[in-house]
Order: sequence, then C-alpha cells, then structure tokens
Amino acid sequence: DWNTARAAEIIAAGRGLEGPLLPILHGFVQAFGYVPEPAVPMVAEALNLSRAEVHGVVTFYHDFRREPAGDHVVKLCRAEACQAAGCEALADHLTGRLGIGFGETTPDGRVTLEPVYCLGLCAVSPAAMIDGRLVARLDEKRLDRALDEVAR
Ligand code: FES
Repeated sequence: DWNTARAAEIIAAGRGLEGPLLPILHGFVQAFGYVPEPAVPMVAEALNLSRAEVHGVVTFYHDFRREPAGDHVVKLCRAEACQAAGCEALADHLTGRLGIGFGETTPDGRVTLEPVYCLGLCAVSPAAMIDGRLVARLDEKRLDRALDEVAR
C-alpha cells in the first residue's frame, strides 16, 4: 500500500539520477502498483517541476496506472496490426461484458481493463495480455474463455 515514507525514499533514491522523473515514477509503480495522486506534488517539489508537468508525464505514459489495479488485469492490444485484425470489436465486447471502459476497474475490484500498444504478436493478432500471460489469435470465444478463468 502507498505510504509517504516509502514514496519519499523512492524520490530520494531517484533524484540524483540524470532524468530522474521516469525512474521515480517506475519506482512508485513497482512499490505500490500505481502512481498515487498525493505523490505527484512530492515529486514536483523534489525535482523543481510544476505539478502539471509531473501530471503530464504520468498521464502520457500508459504504464503509469493512477489507481490500484483490480485482482486481474486484462490488457487488450489496440495498436495498428491488431486493429486491422479486428481488435475494436473485441474491445466493445470486453467493455460490454465487464461494464467498464478502458483504464477502469470493475466495481467489485476483480478486473482492470487497459489498452496496450503492441505486444510483439502482430503476426498472430489480435492479441492481449491477461495477468501477464500473452494470448494471441483472439476472437470473442477465446476471449470469453480467458475471462471466465479470471473474472468468474
Ligand atoms: Fe497488437 Fe502488435 S499491434 S501485437
């Protein structure tokens, strides 16, 4: 769980680096699983940046989750090759089934849905990563089966 002391340690460890912002933000994700909102002003102050600047970087990179993730994380690839292979229909299917949008977590905290931009599986697209496991050649059936395992 997020706590100020641990965040301060991560900032202290990273601030001496050249280009310290990204390593510090990655440090947060590693330690807490996301970038806690109250840590943004701490980083801004330590690095002499405005809050808006830090916030801009956090929101620019899809890797920096801003809330704790659910028990399971479904990342659907929405980059070019997967789009050509029909991932947008799968995206609709997922948001419909889970009742949430991308970047959101189901109210029961079970599943977080996130976009990802190329998993290196373009040749066997559409692709996704479910709890760190890659799944390729997705169609609605395969997706449903994978979801049944995680999101009962
Ligand atoms: Fe989806 Fe490359 S575009 S895996």
